[in-house]
Amino acid sequence: MTVGAADFDWIAQLVWQRSAIVLEKGKEYLVESRLAPLARKTGAETVSEFVTRLIAKPDSSLISEVIDAMTTNETSWFRDHYPFQALQSHVLPELTRNRGRQRTLRVWSAGCSSGQEPYSIAMVVQDHFALHPGWAVDIIGSDLSDVMLEKARNARYGQLEVNRGLPVAMLVRHFERLGTEWQLRPEIRRMVDFRSINLAQRIPEIGTFDIIFLRNVLIYFDADTKRGIFEQVKRVLRPDGYLFLGGAETTLNVDPDFEPVMYDRATCYRLRGREVS
Ligand SMILES: C[S@@+](CC[C@H](N)C(=O)[O-])C[C@H]1O[C@@H](n2cnc3c(N)ncnc32)[C@H](O)[C@@H]1O
Repeated sequence: MTVGAADFDWIAQLVWQRSAIVLEKGKEYLVESRLAPLARKTGAETVSEFVTRLIAKPDSSLISEVIDAMTTNETSWFRDHYPFQALQSHVLPELTRNRGRQRTLRVWSAGCSSGQEPYSIAMVVQDHFALHPGWAVDIIGSDLSDVMLEKARNARYGQLEVNRGLPVAMLVRHFERLGTEWQLRPEIRRMVDFRSINLAQRIPEIGTFDIIFLRNVLIYFDADTKRGIFEQVKRVLRPDGYLFLGGAETTLNVDPDFEPVMYDRATCYRLRGREVS
């Protein structure tokens, strides 16, 4: 049995208000399958009963769990490969030249899920700066989901998770076995600082960034929300910085201030009329 229309509308409205994620009609099955475990946990017999109880008594921690359950946290190591290759062969070398005096670099992985994206960036950064000592590199990973942030901070992954995109040589070098799981070693873990940031709200003062990964997040939002997020990105991206989006995402027809730039098979986005800083 799938959730009824009124319950679906209530959940869709709640999720949109809290996260900007759009749940279109036809996604009733998704609400049903994602909320069924939570409903069971609270003792409700069905998702409908769970929603009825939640409407009658909107408990804030339960609402957070609903939002968490409705986010899609799919991710992998070095996802799509090419953005990380571009980072290694073009972006980091160029920014190393441009920031030669300051010797600092800041990277933001927004919507980082369980940490694979910022930790993949950290591995590339570590290799690059081994040849350029004396640099301070900040990497921030952020997400809306507290469950994902906790997993990211713990940096413990199952066999199936490490099988997704992580070359064996990197597994051996950067992880140690912990029972049936793999624990990322402290050298890489301490390179990334995790923060709770809701992209649908005004982002907190987190400084400016040379590189922003905002990948596979915008696909869940409507056009106005995307425009609002690009406005925020423009506030924090340095004028000669780089923005990476997911393969199905683009600034084209959404924000004319960005232009796509291709490096091999990776597309990244840069501000038009930029100056070196
Ligand atoms: C599909 S994952 C993408 C993970 C990673 N960027 C990648 O490409 O592999 C999308 C992530 O965006 C997060 N997310 C969804 N809505 C968000 C919002 N309003 N603010 C911040 N993060 C959000 C989800 O919790 C989820 O972890």
